[in-house]
Amino acid sequence: MAEDVIIALDFKSAEETYAFLDRFGDEKPFVKIGMELYYAEGPSIVREIKKRGHKIFLDLKLHDIPNTVEKAMRVLSSLEVDMCNLHAAGTSRMMRAALKGLTREDGTRPLLIAVTQLTSTDEDALKNELLIGDTMENTVKSYALNAKNAGLDGVVCSPLEAGKVHEFCGNGFLTVTPGVRFPEGEQGDQKRIATPERARELGSDYIVVGRPVTAASDPVKAYERCLKEFLGR
Ligand code: C5P
Repeated sequence: MAEDVIIALDFKSAEETYAFLDRFGDEKPFVKIGMELYYAEGPSIVREIKKRGHKIFLDLKLHDIPNTVEKAMRVLSSLEVDMCNLHAAGTSRMMRAALKGLTREDGTRPLLIAVTQLTSTDEDALKNELLIGDTMENTVKSYALNAKNAGLDGVVCSPLEAGKVHEFCGNGFLTVTPGVRFPEGEQGDQKRIATPERARELGSDYIVVGRPVTAASDPVKAYERCLKEFLGR
C-alpha cells in the first residue's frame, strides 16, 4: 500500500544538496542518500539532514562477511536513519547479522530492505558471469524469500515486479521501487518504468524518484505531483 515518496538526493556535494532541500521550505520530504553523496560528505551529511527534519533512506547496499556487516549496521543505526539496505546475495546469515547490528538497545531499528538482483544485471550476465543457471524471475523470487525469512522488511524492485513480490512474500513485505517517470518525462537510463499513479495501482509501498524531481524546473511542484498521484492526496 502506498506509504510515501522518497526523493533520491543524487548530488555530489553537501552544498548542492542543501540548496535543493532549501527550496522545500517547511515541507520535509523522505530522502534517499546514496553512495556518491555519502562517500563525498561522510556521516555528517546524514546527521545534518536528519536535524533538518527529514526521514532518510541510506542506500549503501552492504555486502560483506556477517561480522563486518553487523558492526557496520550498528554504526548506521546510531545515525538514526529510517531505512537502509544490503545485498541479499550476502546470504541469510549476513542478513540476520545485519538485523542484529541494526537493532538498538530499546528494540527499535531502521527498516532493512534487500537488493535482490541489480536491475543493471541481465539474464546473460546472470548465466555467463554469475553462473546462476536459473531465470532472473526465479532468482529474484528466491532472494526475496530469503530476505523475508531472515526477518527483513522488504526489497528494492521495479514497480512492475511489486505485485509478484507481494504474491510470494505477502502484502506486508515492503516494495521500494525506483524507475518512476511522468508520462511525458525523459526515460533516461531506466528500463522498467511506471508513473507514480501506475506504481500505486501495482502495489508499490514506497517510490524512489530522482531526476523527475531533482532535474525538474520546479522540483517542489514535481514532488507534490508525485505525492498527489502516488498517495492520491
Ligand atoms: O533519477 P532516477 O529517478 O532514475 O533515480 C533513481 C534512484 O534509485 C537512483 O538513486 C538509483 O541509483 C536508485 N536505484 C535504481 N534502481 C535500482 C536501485 C536503486 O534506480 N535497482
